[in-house]
Amino acid sequence: MTATAGRDRPSGTTARTVAQAKVNLFLRVLAREASGYHQLETLFCRLELGDDVVVRVGVDGRSLDCAGDVIPPEGLGPTQRNLAWRAAVAYADATGWPNDWAIEIAKRIPVGGGLGGGSADAGAVLRCLNRLAPSPLSDDALIALAAPLGADVPFLATRDPMALAWGRGERLLALPPLPERAITLVCFPFGVSTPDAYGWLDEIAPRPRAARLSVDALSTWVGVARVAHNDFEAAVAPRYREIERALEELRAHAVRVHDATSVTMLAGSGATVFSICDTGPQAMTAVHGMSLRLAHTRTASRVVAVEVSD
Ligand code: C5P
Repeated sequence: MTATAGRDRPSGTTARTVAQAKVNLFLRVLAREASGYHQLETLFCRLELGDDVVVRVGVDGRSLDCAGDVIPPEGLGPTQRNLAWRAAVAYADATGWPNDWAIEIAKRIPVGGGLGGGSADAGAVLRCLNRLAPSPLSDDALIALAAPLGADVPFLATRDPMALAWGRGERLLALPPLPERAITLVCFPFGVSTPDAYGWLDEIAPRPRAARLSVDALSTWVGVARVAHNDFEAAVAPRYREIERALEELRAHAVRVHDATSVTMLAGSGATVFSICDTGPQAMTAVHGMSLRLAHTRTASRVVAVEVSD
């Protein structure tokens, strides 16, 4: 791996940042590779909502302390399964540094909701370690390290608030940030399994055509609203009446408040539904008596810097 030469970096043993969530304002799932993974074309946008992540080096042993809900993938023990932990292991394996670390995460991003919570933590750990490292990796090397951890991690390991991504999320083109806007998140007390969602999508043929993206058209919210699309919606919403209802209700709200540049979609493969709308709803009709949680945040025009201290 290559190191970044001559960067002016404050020295210290503790790095902290906010692992901001993401939404996809455009998400097109392309062909399934022989590996079972799908090629993607997507437009990522960071949110202000994020988890607090602190990484300490120069400690004895390796630890992860996570306050809040976490749903790790199946197979390993609870700590080793955590994506933030796996990011630190990947960094140490690739660079030979550090031996030990202490990671603390305070969760705020709803878990299993398509907002990239676990991936944002992993991206934040990579950024923190790279700020503390005696020989930091280049931005490209950090993205290469992030790619095997999941399709959202490369973007969430960058300092870009907005980017187009292709491949499995590792080919990135940073875009100028759009003005911040209010976004309402509808959070459900259930998640949607990402592998299941890809499977349901593979069953839909032919898929509805999505717009062709042009970078110029993505420089305004009007342009984004015109192309906003998520392939997962057609596969996921019909299986969850609650998601379908939330989408309908938020879209009807945007029409009522005459917001022509509103964007209402499923977040990633779900279950969260979001609406970027200048006057978002303060309440929603409960579906089948299910308690919905509305969270209000903003789209981000900057990514919170990593702060280093002793
Ligand atoms: O990227 P992430 O680890 O969240 O992906 C979870 C699962 O979703 C993968 O194991 C795979 O089944 C599916 N997936 C896919 N194509 C992608 C990304 C994920 O089929 N590009």
